[in-house]
Amino acid sequence: MRIDVLTLFPAMFEGPMTESMLWKARDRGLLDLRLHQIRDFTTDSHRTVDDTPYGGGGGMIMKPEPVVSAAESVLGDAPPGTPVILMTPQGRVFSHQIAWELAQQPRLVFLCGRYEGVDDRVRQLVITDEISIGDYVLTGGELPAMVVIDALVRHIPGVLGAEGAAAQDSHADGVLEGPQYTRPPVFRGLSVPKVLAEGNHAAVARWRRREGLRATWRNRPDLLLKAALTEEEQYLLATFAEEDAKQRAGSKSQTT
Ligand code: ADE
Repeated sequence: MRIDVLTLFPAMFEGPMTESMLWKARDRGLLDLRLHQIRDFTTDSHRTVDDTPYGGGGGMIMKPEPVVSAAESVLGDAPPGTPVILMTPQGRVFSHQIAWELAQQPRLVFLCGRYEGVDDRVRQLVITDEISIGDYVLTGGELPAMVVIDALVRHIPGVLGAEGAAAQDSHADGVLEGPQYTRPPVFRGLSVPKVLAEGNHAAVARWRRREGLRATWRNRPDLLLKAALTEEEQYLLATFAEEDAKQRAGSKSQTT
């Protein structure tokens, strides 16, 4: 997959995009990541990329000419229908599902907004999708673009070691992943659950599903409204409340 990023701060990508999984994906030729400095597409001697907003108000707006030139330049040899994604707090909220969908594309273009935003004619002329990484405002679209790239690259076949590991991620089926353990078997008096060391794969799968449901019930109950649960799993949810209440009572009696 090829990804072109249009940004005023290409150096921000240097650390995150040259370490760990991202670097492996690039090194193995699975990801061709190209950074483009929007300022290189200005035509005035000051290399101006922003201007004051029409209608007044604070802050600066990214000018349309250099941004559209940069986008058209990278789209020159791209297949028709290549997504051009504006990273903006006004976009649709990013998710596991969107990461998977983007990973199916042979090419993507990301535009990182800065300042108070981008002149809307950029959106009208070249943008095909707008993505937000959450309901908060960052100083620019660079970190959000890196978040989206990191999340989607994990879905490119061959990037993750264990084939299909992304299918077991939290959010893959609307339920979070449960707790994980590694050696040692006992750490500061806390033991690894016995079932994980016993080698019964079906029992391990059942335990993982139950604890994934418990984590979802505890931290993201909103997800359970949409998750496809069996009757038995629905019943499990009720037992979590009881177990939780018992545990709280137990830890209370220990401290009093
Ligand atoms: N730019 C600033 N804040 C953002 C957000 N939450 N998501 C995407 N791009 C942004």
